[in-house]
Amino acid sequence: MKILITGGKGMVGGLLAEFLKDGNTVHAPGREELDITDREKAVKAITDFNPDILFHCAAFTDVDGCENERKRAYLANALGTQHVAEGCAEAGSKMVYLSTDFVFDGKKGKPYSETDNPSPQSVYAETKFLGEYYVSHLLNRFAIVRISRVFGRSGRNFSSVLPRLMKEGKKIILTDNLVNSPTYADDLVKAMSFLVEKEFCGIVNVCNRGECSWYQYGMAVKDMMGIENAELVPVKFEGFKKGQAERPRYSVLSTELLETLGFSMPGWQDSLRRYLVSGQYISSC
Ligand SMILES: NC(=O)c1ccc[n+]([C@@H]2O[C@H](COP(=O)([O-])OP(=O)(O)OC[C@H]3O[C@@H](n4cnc5c(N)ncnc54)[C@H](OP(=O)(O)O)[C@@H]3O)[C@@H](O)[C@H]2O)c1
Repeated sequence: MKILITGGKGMVGGLLAEFLKDGNTVHAPGREELDITDREKAVKAITDFNPDILFHCAAFTDVDGCENERKRAYLANALGTQHVAEGCAEAGSKMVYLSTDFVFDGKKGKPYSETDNPSPQSVYAETKFLGEYYVSHLLNRFAIVRISRVFGRSGRNFSSVLPRLMKEGKKIILTDNLVNSPTYADDLVKAMSFLVEKEFCGIVNVCNRGECSWYQYGMAVKDMMGIENAELVPVKFEGFKKGQAERPRYSVLSTELLETLGFSMPGWQDSLRRYLVSGQYISSC
């Protein structure tokens, strides 16, 4: 298969490229080579390569940064996704778009299924949801994969970096009232590859089984790494940091549909243990 990956230098895009390279022709350009905010260039890059599948992993992913840089967030996450979908429509490629549990407001009190109504509460969430809108309205062959709190090799986000910070003896402040399901990037790329093989179209949730707050996640890292003197401080999200974007308090994603399709994600503790044992966290920045 010919596979094009946007955001190829990001955490998920980079890992996906590596995972799919055997037996496929994979091109995974970074932003310098394929900037999705430039419609003409983005559409041309897609139609020139003419992929069977395009995995759209590029996004402005700094959730708090999106509040301060609304225009950049809209250009990259909403319009950029529209451009990619237009390119896929022209090339006749299937598009797989990565979206987020943050499209929900977190007020349901139970895990969210694919049919629940989104109600985004931040600029990042709104722009990612607009991306979903473009993908589902411009294409017939698409998959929207909603994921949450991804950790893995080369991750620039807090959940990837936390084990290293803990090992360095840093005092770590963690919220105890934001609950969702961590997603190990190694498991995620296997699930995405499975969905492609199954020729799945539509919206599907992918995350590890189980749920935890950031504080519970930190405590699990501490126990698994055996760092007894690590200092973890639980705080409430409200008033934790100035200028932070609103986040859903409970945005656990149900993986029932994925399981019905035939793919079972491991529990998050099992996956976290594998991440820590692999030592991949050392490369997170
Ligand atoms: N990580 C999570 O916890 C999480 C949770 C839910 C959903 N997601 C979604 O999953 C996808 C992959 O996330 P990730 O964790 O791999 O993020 P990441 O490591 O931040 O990677 C995103 C990549 O997109 C690139 N990018 C930004 N603007 C671009 C543009 N205009 N044109 C082309 N590329 C651009 C970035 O390049 P620069 O570094 O040069 O800006 C970066 O390499 C994203 O769609 C994200 O919204 C992630």
